[in-house]
Amino acid sequence: MVLDYTDDELAVIRRAIAPPPPRPPEEVIDAMRPAAGQPVPNHMPPFWKLSDLEMPLFLRLSADPVVVALSRYAFFPEVLDRLRAGAEVPTLEFTGRARGMVAILRFADRAIVIKPLQSAREDRIARIAGDLEVGPCQLETLPGYLTEEFVPGVFFTQLTEEQLTDSFLTTVGANLGGMVRRLHQADIYFNDVTFSDHRGRSHLIVDSDGSCRLIDFGISLLLDRHPDYDREEVHNFVRTLPLYRVFRGMAEDQDHVDQFLADYGGKLAAASKSEITSRDLTFAQEGLGMAAKRMGDRIIDPVRDGFVQAYNG
Ligand SMILES: Nc1ncnc2c1ncn2[C@@H]1O[C@H](COP(=O)(O)OP(=O)(O)OP(=O)(O)O)[C@@H](O)[C@H]1O
Ligand SMILES: [Mg+2]
Repeated sequence: MVLDYTDDELAVIRRAIAPPPPRPPEEVIDAMRPAAGQPVPNHMPPFWKLSDLEMPLFLRLSADPVVVALSRYAFFPEVLDRLRAGAEVPTLEFTGRARGMVAILRFADRAIVIKPLQSAREDRIARIAGDLEVGPCQLETLPGYLTEEFVPGVFFTQLTEEQLTDSFLTTVGANLGGMVRRLHQADIYFNDVTFSDHRGRSHLIVDSDGSCRLIDFGISLLLDRHPDYDREEVHNFVRTLPLYRVFRGMAEDQDHVDQFLADYGGKLAAASKSEITSRDLTFAQEGLGMAAKRMGDRIIDPVRDGFVQAYNG
């Protein structure tokens, strides 16, 4: 059998990899080298916590061909169960910046994404968004990570010239408008770029039939505890304000930043939920303008018409 570990061993392995462990100390890195001066095998650092008390298990992992191919990802429920049921080992590629490594695993019949959580409540928000069919469908995972379906399609800013008919653009606008409406009704403020940022990056994936999903709820806020927001939530709110970038450049020290966040927490508490969520509409409008710089001004009217109509229901 592939990945032939007992349930107890699996539990030990999963505790070591989830939530994502910190970087190993230097002496542990050295101990992982096959010989002095040789590089550490890429697949082993995520398991470093086992190298202390569980050396035999650590050595077995190090020689397991599936672990060599997939490292920690072999032990996520969506992967382990499929492999044990006879699926071929998926291909593995990496992307992601802000949150660390985002792994895309492609099986013959489907692809999944495994990524570390970026905020304390992201799993909850992603689950709600997935259930609303706004975000990727969430799958069984391990603590500290999301496991989700890979959304097929291209980012809004990558749509090809031939796809940009008025009716297609209206459909996409309406799909995003409806999705943002459903998020807001569920007390979720997306708080990030939708159509495009100034570099053409987007979080809106569009499939060839015009169906859409938003990805990445890493800095989104769940407003269910309004007016109480913790430091991380206030930080996630302010980091998308142009004002904050200027402030960060000038802030003298950590106390100064903490004071700013405490003051801003007061402002958030004094705002209404709809004042907070209305920033998603501003982002959408600004993002559409930035997308139009690349894709042509004629995209603006059909997308906006679709969006506004769907958002207002
Ligand atoms: N569910 C998904 N379906 C399809 N592609 C995805 C999915 N999740 C992530 N990706 C891809 O991985 C990239 C990074 O994912 P994500 O945005 O969650 O992490 P990040 O660290 O915020 O990265 P970035 O800073 O590039 O936005 C996305 O831009 C997208 O290309
Ligand atoms: Mg992102």
